[in-house]
Amino acid sequence: MESVVVRGGKVLEGEVSVSGAKNSALPVLFSTLLAEGTHTLHNVPRLKDVESTCQLLELLGCKTQREGTTLTIQVPTLSNFEAHYDVVRKMRASILCLGPILAKYGQAQVSLPGGCAIGTRPINLHLEALKTLGAEITVEKGYVHASAKKLRGDTVLFETATVGGTENILMAAVFAEGKTIIENAAKEPEVVDLANYLNKMGAQIKGAGSSIITVEGVESLHPSEHTIIPDRIEAGTLLIAGALTGGKVKVTDCIPEHLDALISKMRESGFQISTEESSITVHPCTVWKGVDITTTPHPGFATDLQAQFMVLMTQAKGTSVITESIFENRFMHVQELSRLGADITPKTRVAVVRGRKGGLEGAPVMATDLRASASLVLAGLVAHGATKVNRIYHLDRGYENLEAKLRSLGADVERLHQ
Ligand code: UD1
Repeated sequence: MESVVVRGGKVLEGEVSVSGAKNSALPVLFSTLLAEGTHTLHNVPRLKDVESTCQLLELLGCKTQREGTTLTIQVPTLSNFEAHYDVVRKMRASILCLGPILAKYGQAQVSLPGGCAIGTRPINLHLEALKTLGAEITVEKGYVHASAKKLRGDTVLFETATVGGTENILMAAVFAEGKTIIENAAKEPEVVDLANYLNKMGAQIKGAGSSIITVEGVESLHPSEHTIIPDRIEAGTLLIAGALTGGKVKVTDCIPEHLDALISKMRESGFQISTEESSITVHPCTVWKGVDITTTPHPGFATDLQAQFMVLMTQAKGTSVITESIFENRFMHVQELSRLGADITPKTRVAVVRGRKGGLEGAPVMATDLRASASLVLAGLVAHGATKVNRIYHLDRGYENLEAKLRSLGADVERLHQ
């Protein structure tokens, strides 16, 4: 089994470029199912989750081809409307094929994704929203069976703002008869990117990025070309890596406004951060203070950066209170960080971090989920000696060659293939 070994103590310096956003690439890839023909997507990151999505698209009859960061997807008229458990269990985002297949073909069967390390992650809101548009939905033998002769536009009010739910309903509503209004929609930049691609295909969507999105149903869509937005979570992870080691790191090819919440918390903590049109630079800092964060939907502090920010706080002067309001079980990294010597008290949704600069000692640790694995690699950068992060396959689901990027900044990181 592969692992990553980090030897701490190097100050990171230099420039590093951000890849395309995983959480944008996946829904956009699923949206191609809405239009037969050849779609061209640029800036698609090379990640396990993208591979799993392509695998699912191929099982449905599509052909995918990659050249560098460009992916072309040839979409036929589907004759198979099922997303099998074998693919869905590898990647929860597979549920995003439900909306487009149902909208275009009037039926879809998708395996239930099941739980995951960070919480139960139900899909009830996706299903209720599809029912509001007139879909008949049953759940039998671990599969969602959805059918509708023709979806009808209606007002969908999400009780909780859900990113995947908003994306699924957006893709379902493009062919619905009349107007769909999505209220309390997720405002994440990845929702906007999906809406932009759907509009390029001929959809009539307005308001993406705000909490009310309207979709005017159309008869058909056509394939198009699109460049996936930069990955704000990868950008944030690299920025925190530079900050942690006290170096000057410029993160390029990103959209600074997507990281406003992180940048303002880092500034509050004491870091000097400068931004240009498509880059963010963190400047050297030796002492920073503990600050509190609460994860909330965009534009709030991203839950996907909570674990990495916690590592930054283990090195701060003073105490930090970290509140996780999105997922109920997202402190799995705390136990592992404690193995390295971090002083953290976790409760269900709140963790208190008592910072102590230089207080971490390298040890073997276990990655539990995608962002947790990134946080352990970051901790390794400032721990004395070697930190071996096991179960690193989680990292490959969402980071394009994080070790190589960190190495290019001077980190001592290597992957072991055993
Ligand atoms: C997406 C991101 C994930 C990120 C999360 C929150 C992708 C592929 N994944 O996940 O990286 O951490 O947004 O920003 O884009 N909920 C329900 N019922 C539902 C759906 C959601 O109760 O039917 C709850 C969830 O349990 C959670 C909250 O709503 O507490 C938000 O989840 P959601 O925004 O749906 O997350 P994902 O789309 O799964």
